[in-house]
Amino acid sequence: MSLLILGIESSCDETGVALVRSTGADVPTLLAHALHSQIDMHQAYGGVVPELASRDHIRRVLPLTQAVMAESGHTLAEVDVVAYTRGPGLAGALLVGAGVACALGAALGKPVLGVHHLEGHLLSPFLSADPPEFPFVALLVSGGHTQLMRVDGVGRYEILGETIDDAAGEAFDKSAKLMGLSYPGGPALSRLAEQGDPLAFKLPRPLLHSGNLDFSFAGLKTAVMTQAKKLGDDLEARKADLAASTQAAIVDVLVKKSLTALRETGLQRIVVAGGVGANRLLREQLNAACAKQRVRVHYPELHLCTDNGAMIAMAAAMRLQSGQQQARCDYAFDVKPR
Ligand code: KG4
Ligand code: ZN
Repeated sequence: MSLLILGIESSCDETGVALVRSTGADVPTLLAHALHSQIDMHQAYGGVVPELASRDHIRRVLPLTQAVMAESGHTLAEVDVVAYTRGPGLAGALLVGAGVACALGAALGKPVLGVHHLEGHLLSPFLSADPPEFPFVALLVSGGHTQLMRVDGVGRYEILGETIDDAAGEAFDKSAKLMGLSYPGGPALSRLAEQGDPLAFKLPRPLLHSGNLDFSFAGLKTAVMTQAKKLGDDLEARKADLAASTQAAIVDVLVKKSLTALRETGLQRIVVAGGVGANRLLREQLNAACAKQRVRVHYPELHLCTDNGAMIAMAAAMRLQSGQQQARCDYAFDVKPR
């Protein structure tokens, strides 16, 4: 049976819409997707302004949906299921996607399905030309989450370790802010780091030898702040070195803990997902370390690392295919910000 699934993502500062086809057996196929990033709008404020985010999602979501349908060559009437991000994320922003998805579902007489944002990230490598096979270790590194998981199949997730304070993306963003870099900090910091010396400053690698798979990045942020203060007027001249040292510390912890997770589970495959998965140094170091251990590494395509509608449509399709969840027609939507 073939199903057309429309996916809507609106949890934070990207409005994403996509259409996938699920045939029941194979990995679902992405037919079309469209994305609008609000980064330019929030940049002036140094971070996401929730109210502005919600209003912009409202402006963008239907034109993006029309663009996706036009690109796919299908009509809305042909859509079988409308999926949306149910959470976590900004409440008002989530309500836009949920509201529009349920209104579309009700108007078309089609069922809707709420998707967990992190499951979207987790399954996003299945959108690539070389999708992974279960089971695998997953390193989920986004702006709000940092987790290592054992993934045995759709919906079969075991958390092996997670951050006890800040997420990896947060460590990038907050350190970047301390250095006066633009929002979002991750890409800005990693760009600056290309020109710096990663050994210039000795920064902590929190919980590196903790014996478990948990992470902690709050202490690193404090160390970066202390170092920035110490540099005073010299900060500007040494910024690239501080950025490179910060990035090296974050990546070092992510890579070493990932290798420990692989060793402990005995698995030979790792999937990296979430915005920080776009980081070049992380990819380089993880690829090199995994090549030595004959471990396969899978990433989402670079443009699908950060938030997008394709991963939401994909996660919905895979959930429906696995028979673990059914789309519903009650349209009594709720969102789960946390
Ligand atoms: O997955 P995502 O788009 O949104 C959340 O679900 O949080 O991740 C956003 C995070 C931000 O913290 C951003 O700074 C970080 O991913 N990020 C990066 C890079 N690109 C995005 N961090 C490091 N290097 C990058 N190239
Ligand atoms: Zn995300």
